[in-house]
Amino acid sequence: MTTETLPRVFSGVQPSGLPHVGNYLGAFRNYIAMQDGHDAIYCIVDYHALTSTHDSELIRRNTHEMALGLLALGLDPEKAVLFRQSDRPEHAELAYLLSTVVPVSWVERTPSFKEKKRTQPDDVNHALLTYPVLQTADIAIYHARYVPVGKDQAAHLELAREIVRAWNARYGDYFVEPEAVFTDSPVVRGTDGVQKMSKSLGNVVEIFGDEAVIRKQIMSMVTDTQRVLRTDPGRPEVCNVCQLHRFFGDDYELIWDGERTARTGCVDTKRLLADRMLTFFAEARERRRELEAKPGYVEEVLRAGAETLAPMAAETLRVVRDRMGLG
Ligand code: TRP
Repeated sequence: MTTETLPRVFSGVQPSGLPHVGNYLGAFRNYIAMQDGHDAIYCIVDYHALTSTHDSELIRRNTHEMALGLLALGLDPEKAVLFRQSDRPEHAELAYLLSTVVPVSWVERTPSFKEKKRTQPDDVNHALLTYPVLQTADIAIYHARYVPVGKDQAAHLELAREIVRAWNARYGDYFVEPEAVFTDSPVVRGTDGVQKMSKSLGNVVEIFGDEAVIRKQIMSMVTDTQRVLRTDPGRPEVCNVCQLHRFFGDDYELIWDGERTARTGCVDTKRLLADRMLTFFAEARERRRELEAKPGYVEEVLRAGAETLAPMAAETLRVVRDRMGLG
């Protein structure tokens, strides 16, 4: 599982509950693809979640749900390591050590920090500021080179490279500069048709929800706002429903043609998308039900994952502490 010769992959996901279509198209497809031919490590980042949620029960439940969803989607613990961030507290120590080479100006100007100041003005906690430093530690502690993520993480990955470089410059070459790996749909828009699909924005299409709920989410999607009458031609290039069809069938051009010529209407195209998505995810939905029925399974996978990583984390901390003059 962790042979030295395969290129190492690491990614982390916030425990926001059940994975949605945006998570899948933007990053999880790559998690699953890269578990072959790579030494892949995937993490549910519950420490990071504390920057925006202070509900302990929710964090625990959502961590479990996210892990269950990933396993149902095909993440295979025989091939890749899946673990919970807080089960490897060495991440927090490395984050602290890395933070000593990070100028405050770097983290203050991070786009996600500026956004959080806007979206949670009453909770601009210190951990929000150091969020990207912890993210860097997550990756660097295992010397991962490739990091499958959505486009929203590009700035964090750029910062991770700078932080690693700053540490290497001061204490000698040790850490690998990580590279982001995107899918061919690195940005997935939500049901509003404008903003990125995100649980916190309430614009998601679920993967594991009730069929009726998923159909409703898809039927509520905003399409081409300039197409007012059923007889108006549609513009598939701007229509989010048409864009999503690209990933759930091999005949999207035919569907697009129907829209352009007004042979089909938005309602037809949405209904078709709902059918196709439900078919596409049928196996994962079934698998989730199976895994959910196995008591203790998810917790056991997470526990074993963290245990596998213990020697690697310890070795990195040993070298870093030594080079930095500690202990
Ligand atoms: N910030 C990432 C997100 O919000 C989650 C994350 C934490 C992560 N640590 C990481 C992603 C390390 C990639 C690598 O989605």
